[in-house]
Amino acid sequence: MNIRTSNQSAPELSCDLLAFGITKDGVSAAVAGLEDAFGGTLASTLSGDEFTGKAGQSASYPTFGRMGAPRILLVGTGNGDADGIQAAAGQAGSHARRLGAETVGLALGALDAVGTERAIEAFALGNYRFDKYKAETDRKSRASELVIVGDNDAATYPRATAIALGQELARNLVNEPAAEIYPESLAEAARSIAGSGLTVEVWDHEKIRDEGMGGITAVGQGSDRKPRFIHMHYTPKGTPRKRIALVGKGVTFDAGGYSLKPSAGMQTMRCDMAGSAAVIGTMRAIRDLAPDVEVHGIVGAAENLISGGAYKLGDVLRMHNGKTVEIHNTDAEGRLVLADCLSYASKLDVEAIVDLATLTGACVVALGDHYVGMFTSDDALADALDTGAKAAGEQIWRLPLPDAYKELIKADWGTIKNVGGRAGGAITAALFLSEFVDGPAWAHLDIAGPAFLEKGHKHIASGGTGTMVPTLCSWIIS
Ligand code: BES
Ligand code: MN
Ligand code: ZN
Repeated sequence: MNIRTSNQSAPELSCDLLAFGITKDGVSAAVAGLEDAFGGTLASTLSGDEFTGKAGQSASYPTFGRMGAPRILLVGTGNGDADGIQAAAGQAGSHARRLGAETVGLALGALDAVGTERAIEAFALGNYRFDKYKAETDRKSRASELVIVGDNDAATYPRATAIALGQELARNLVNEPAAEIYPESLAEAARSIAGSGLTVEVWDHEKIRDEGMGGITAVGQGSDRKPRFIHMHYTPKGTPRKRIALVGKGVTFDAGGYSLKPSAGMQTMRCDMAGSAAVIGTMRAIRDLAPDVEVHGIVGAAENLISGGAYKLGDVLRMHNGKTVEIHNTDAEGRLVLADCLSYASKLDVEAIVDLATLTGACVVALGDHYVGMFTSDDALADALDTGAKAAGEQIWRLPLPDAYKELIKADWGTIKNVGGRAGGAITAALFLSEFVDGPAWAHLDIAGPAFLEKGHKHIASGGTGTMVPTLCSWIIS
């Protein structure tokens, strides 16, 4: 998507759709300003509470040749802050896609750097649909040109574009069926972003086994599509200011294994690689953003299926860090895959590790699908990620990581067991992971809710969301 600024007045701008932002307090003034084009009919058309300028509210009208655009979309920006701008721009993107508008004008008032960046990212998010498998006649064009009307900060365009493209990649990887995205094709997607300081190394299942990664090996051994371990590595040109690692759960399909999921629970389990998709999408953005931070992106990719070779309940796995894990539920597989990745990441020269995983249904029960669950014992890292999320307009909520609950994952035969019972399920999963981190500051993001929406949110379409790509980028950049 090409982005440019225009100093034309909004009504004059020639485009397929003009999105015109109005604040809560500015409705009558804005409407009066548009009446020239509407011949004084807009105010009466807008009577009642059809449009009050509430953030994300919208109303669309044909302009009958009186404006440069054949259609105007009034979008509410609320009190005009970054969240209001985000909601309005997201609606603009979503409506533009519904209409198949290719050139879109965005007039949201004067935008500072944060507002400009948020507007572009939200527009891109709203303009996304995964319709490649729909009939040609049911597909709508996406916007190819975004024209921002009025004062805004063009210096943010490359940054916003890089983040939007990273997030789009993450969404596509999640939305593709598991027949298309399996461990080797996920590795191929990672390889395809190499270049400009980013290298990608992939291990096959034999190497994974030989390196002692008993978790990835066990989870992946029930599938004909063998597991992969993916290590992306971005090195900045000068001396890195910081070194960090991102770790993603890449379970390309989670049937549950012998602790088989019921059909309804399995339906969307192609989304179980959303953590890895967020890592790959973020690495793509980081490659383009070129920050002075060294970033590792690590993915454990495996398919959790049933076969004569699948791992079983009661198995005891020896993990990459030498600890042993007793299997009480083969559906608690994500933590096994992540455990090997985390102990590998702990040996890199990094100050912080952040992992992302669609790890537990319990986290969805606790927080729903608007909030990512964050677990960490490091307050500074929690604050930094929180700041990143606020800047990016995403939502995370910190949950506790109490040592006392470690009791629940004590094992009979091994070092620990892989489940801790129903109560506090997202917490015991996080505590399990903590056993495999040694050294760097660490935070775990359980994205099981927001990563994949059965029903879309406002301007965000159903399916993969690419959640946390903007947050991670914002955190890394600053
Ligand atoms: N991939 C699932 C978690 C999940 C659930 C992701 C819903 C997205 C939406 C994970 O592997 C899983 O099955 N977790 C189990 C753990 C349990 C067996 C301890 C769960 O949450 O039920
Ligand atoms: Mn599972
Ligand atoms: Zn899973």
